[in-house]
Amino acid sequence: MPVDFDRIIDRTNTNAVAADGFRDHLLDDPELELPCADADAVAMWVADMAFATAPVVLEAMRRRLDHPIFGYTVSLDREFETAFQSWCRRRYDWVPDLEHHLPAPGIVPALYDLVDLVLEPGDGVVVHTPAYEPFESAVTNGGGELVTSPLVRRPDGTVAADLDHLAATVADAGVRMFILCHPHNPTGHAWSEDELRAMAEMCFANDVLIVSDEIHCDLLRTGRRHTPLAKLFPESDRIVTCMSSSKTFNLAGLGLANVVIPDDGLRARWEDRHFPVVNPVSAAAATAAFAEGDEWLGELRTYLDANFALVEAMLADRLPAAVFRIPDATYLAWIDLDAYVPTGLNLTTAIAERSGVLVEGGEKFVADGGDCIRLNLACPRSQVEEALDRIIEVALALSAGLG
Ligand SMILES: Cc1ncc(COP(=O)(O)O)c(C=O)c1O
Repeated sequence: MPVDFDRIIDRTNTNAVAADGFRDHLLDDPELELPCADADAVAMWVADMAFATAPVVLEAMRRRLDHPIFGYTVSLDREFETAFQSWCRRRYDWVPDLEHHLPAPGIVPALYDLVDLVLEPGDGVVVHTPAYEPFESAVTNGGGELVTSPLVRRPDGTVAADLDHLAATVADAGVRMFILCHPHNPTGHAWSEDELRAMAEMCFANDVLIVSDEIHCDLLRTGRRHTPLAKLFPESDRIVTCMSSSKTFNLAGLGLANVVIPDDGLRARWEDRHFPVVNPVSAAAATAAFAEGDEWLGELRTYLDANFALVEAMLADRLPAAVFRIPDATYLAWIDLDAYVPTGLNLTTAIAERSGVLVEGGEKFVADGGDCIRLNLACPRSQVEEALDRIIEVALALSAGLG
């Protein structure tokens, strides 16, 4: 039976941060007045999905619940790792070494750990900007210095690395790590093989460890295939790969991710601080997702493609000077409203208070977010249409000086 991604699922009273947590976790002013009841606000912000996870995942979780003991659990049978490895082989033609694999409660916690384990106080960590904000928190919390390298954004909305700028940045003596967001959040850019090779070579030449955060790698537009950075450099132990079923199958609340650390010393230091306990229900879910989730993911990707096409058509029709291009990857639309809104306006607040639609404005990202908004399209099409309709009205009113 085809998956019904059009179904609207009420998330209120499930402690969903998207639905009930926006005052504390999105808005700068938690008291901000909205033009609607909080329950009627349209959540298009935090990067999880308004879709039910795959039935095969739910069935596996239910099966695990049939056994009533949830004590200390370690992946002794290696089913979780083996399913992850098969997934990588099938989907990216990459075979991660299971000896290098470690479970983590999430990719952000893994980044905090890696920063702690690798950096001396004051060491630099390079990220592309605009950047996902927790990259900065992980670095500064661990006593590191964030060093930014802006992406090039062309007038047609396409994105590329500024390789000359990046080369100069990683050549700085204080830089020890590069966190690559692959594919990139928020722009949705999937790096070309040439870009990946060039970025990695410059890091190797300067002894900079690469942490490749590939959490969005399954959410490419239909027909495209992800290339893990580590696949291009099978001999290197200078690339840490972070992946997860959480973004792909909407399991972020289950707290389980995959980290592949080829460097023996770094992996040993990680193992010293972590007993590899896994939540047994989460492990059952992720194992099923990796083993049996392909068909569901195919349907999800087709649905997301159509949501992006809708956004493209609505913008072309009603907001033609907005800069938008269907991204290579992610379910996030990155829309530049510069032509319509006053420069520097806090777009999260402006759009929320005028329309009740909750999006992340450019100010939510580390530098260079400009007058862009990030709109999460992993929701029923009717919701995309409603939210974008209201955002377009806000942009037009602001542009006419009425807003
Ligand atoms: C680039 C990136 N890394 C990590 C995360 C979160 O990872 P986790 O929930 O596994 O900590 C996100 C979530 O949006 C993300 O976009």
